[in-house]
Amino acid sequence: MSHQPVPTRYNDPTLYRACGRSGLKLPRLSLGLWHNFGDTDDFANSRALILRAFDLGITHFDIANNYGPPPGSAETNFGRILRADLAAHRDELIISSKAGYPMWDGPYGDWGSRKYLLASLDQSLRRLQLDYVDIFYSHRPDPATPIEETMGALAHAVRSGKALYVGLSNYSPEQTTRAAQVLRELGTPCLIHQPKYHMFERTPEQGLLAVLAKEGIGCIPFCPLAQGLLTNRYLAGIPADSRAAHDPRFLKPEHITTAKVAQIRQLDVLAKNRGQSLAQMALAWVLRQPAVTTALIGASKVSQIEDNLGALKNPTFTADELARIDAILAG
Ligand SMILES: NC(=O)c1ccc[n+]([C@@H]2O[C@H](COP(=O)([O-])OP(=O)(O)OC[C@H]3O[C@@H](n4cnc5c(N)ncnc54)[C@H](OP(=O)(O)O)[C@@H]3O)[C@@H](O)[C@H]2O)c1
Repeated sequence: MSHQPVPTRYNDPTLYRACGRSGLKLPRLSLGLWHNFGDTDDFANSRALILRAFDLGITHFDIANNYGPPPGSAETNFGRILRADLAAHRDELIISSKAGYPMWDGPYGDWGSRKYLLASLDQSLRRLQLDYVDIFYSHRPDPATPIEETMGALAHAVRSGKALYVGLSNYSPEQTTRAAQVLRELGTPCLIHQPKYHMFERTPEQGLLAVLAKEGIGCIPFCPLAQGLLTNRYLAGIPADSRAAHDPRFLKPEHITTAKVAQIRQLDVLAKNRGQSLAQMALAWVLRQPAVTTALIGASKVSQIEDNLGALKNPTFTADELARIDAILAG
């Protein structure tokens, strides 16, 4: 039997904010499927994460062609959940996918050519068992392909009805300005930009957020919890069920240095003084930027999604709190 969502899921209208200057509203927290949705993960847990998020009002789910492992399996597993549990709710969902990193062998399975992007989108739709995605991204800029070609492929995806909106990820401020101009000329304005942004990675503050505000493009920072570092996960060692212990493809145990843990402990004390968990404070910190529409979290447990939504209860910082965070981060 398909999932029966809780009727109260849209009771809090403040959960949603317009994405840039578009008419599309996104929840302040969105759920990403980079980890915990591959064939090596527990399908029942993956399903529970999606359904609990949806019941809590999280309408946006982010994926990419290569998420797994193996690459593609996160889309296949999410497609199964959509088909079995949420088919009646497709119009309540914002589903994004991307192409830009290695996906298949040969010269047409990577980067930013029209050939790769459009073939990859067709493959993603088959795995997801969908007719269209809501947002299709260029996952990274391609220095060897004219930006007009990559943006032309995104605009074509919209014109062909296979995507409703387009987005950019990992583009610099200059690349974003140029891409936005090309997309505007093609009649397909850029909806959203997906940069890495968290307390330990503040590059977007050096120009990108200003460009997004000026261009009216929404912002969805990825890894706002630094893959779990900005939570209580690693305060006392590396738990066996944590990402660093069981799936260290990207967050490796050697990243969790004594100096980093000392910083995390100080941030944790500050969060407690604000009446928040460290994860909640880290999310509120990203969301404090006016240009940021939604924070793109990951989760391995339903309880983490529930905890993270608590960030919205205390979203503001005093100047003193911000200064103390800066001082801790400066070491
Ligand atoms: N565009 C790009 O290039 C790009 C790159 C990377 C990611 N992304 C997107 O960003 C999404 C999020 O990335 P991410 O998973 O690294 O995000 P994240 O939110 O920084 O980290 C998620 C991890 O933090 C831990 N966590 C979350 N909430 C917690 C809580 N309340 N208490 C304790 N621990 C908590 C969990 O770790 P454990 O697993 O250890 O429990 C969880 O797996 C991805 O799924 C993907 O959609 C995009």
